[in-house]
Amino acid sequence: MDVSKVEKGKLLAPNMAVSAVLVPSQELPAETPIVSGYDWENGTDYNKILDSYSRSGFQATSFGKAVAEINKMLKCRSVALTEETGDPYEEDSFIKKKTNCTIFLGYTSNMISSGLRDTIRFLVKNKLVDCIVTTAGGVEEDFIKCLAPTYVGDFNLSGKVLRTRGINRIGNLLVPNDNYCKFEEWVTPILDEMLEEQIRDGIVWTPSRIIAKLGEKINDESSVCYWAWKNNIPIFSPALTDGSLGDMMYFHSFKRPGLIIDILSDLRRLNTMAVKANNTGMIILGGGVIKHHICNANLMRNGADFAVYVNTASEYDGSDAGARPDEAVSWGKIRPNATPVKLYADATLVFPLIVAQTFAKYHFSNKKNV
Ligand SMILES: NC(=O)c1ccc[n+]([C@@H]2O[C@H](COP(=O)([O-])OP(=O)(O)OC[C@H]3O[C@@H](n4cnc5c(N)ncnc54)[C@H](O)[C@@H]3O)[C@@H](O)[C@H]2O)c1
Repeated sequence: MDVSKVEKGKLLAPNMAVSAVLVPSQELPAETPIVSGYDWENGTDYNKILDSYSRSGFQATSFGKAVAEINKMLKCRSVALTEETGDPYEEDSFIKKKTNCTIFLGYTSNMISSGLRDTIRFLVKNKLVDCIVTTAGGVEEDFIKCLAPTYVGDFNLSGKVLRTRGINRIGNLLVPNDNYCKFEEWVTPILDEMLEEQIRDGIVWTPSRIIAKLGEKINDESSVCYWAWKNNIPIFSPALTDGSLGDMMYFHSFKRPGLIIDILSDLRRLNTMAVKANNTGMIILGGGVIKHHICNANLMRNGADFAVYVNTASEYDGSDAGARPDEAVSWGKIRPNATPVKLYADATLVFPLIVAQTFAKYHFSNKKNV
């Protein structure tokens, strides 16, 4: 047993404890960053504060990595298409290759309910992304906000009381039920029109074609779907019926039965975009269908070149929502040589800041140079 020894009348620390605690270190690689934070003696400089995140550790460092990964997408995107690398024969203007790096943006419904809608609209209005995947709420809430506002409430408001007042809660946001009645009034005649076009002209409606039609019809510059329609950016939503839009379609199916929605044609459109792309980047805010749908499309090209996940889910339950990028590498959905990033955070908090350090700088510096 290694016990303390007495030397020159002094009790020495046990050798075993000394060698256990004071293990000598090997040198770290010279380029290893040193932890540091923001120097407040500089005053409040938001750009420098956000720059300092990458050296701060924890999710602040992941934030810095996400910024670097998106800037790589944008650098790749700025390489001009040539006759060889372009897409001259594609007739579908929505899926035609537009840049050297096709960026797929995914977001869950609640992001459109929140103020993140305005950040997403900036990206779509300025053609900074090429393809969107969202869930039904991410479509209908965009239109509903054009008809009536969503309010900031509180997570703790009682469901029972809200129900008696006809107010719906999404986290700490409130949507009066009347908003959905206005939505029904707006959307039902468009569903009639779609059914007529299906019968008369043989139009095959897919979720992305329906969303483009609604985007055109809303004719409102505050809408993400309006700009997506205007800029030929497809919005895919394979579970389009799982929301208020589905409720409206359900009621409509009693009044005027017969409307058919084809999800397979949309899968072909989405996968074709991935297969044709010179390079791809995935930016996925949240998990579930939107995350898997984009990753699966990228499997068709043997993996995305760049990827950023922003979500709050963990992998311990085996969920796809929580899976880290490395799991997608195992499936061939992200390339093995890529440098994907997962940022564990509420997207409403971090995505506007990510956009400030990436797309906004890229867009405004390109604008200055024109
Ligand atoms: N406003 C709404 O949220 C709304 C409205 C109508 C219908 N719906 C329907 O509910 C169903 C489920 O919604 P969903 O698939 O859009 O996603 P969801 O709300 O179920 O979220 C999926 C996962 O994404 C992550 N996530 C969600 N919000 C996040 C955030 N702010 N920051 C980081 N990560 C986040 C979480 O890990 C979550 O488990 C869909 O079919 C949708 O159409 C939702």
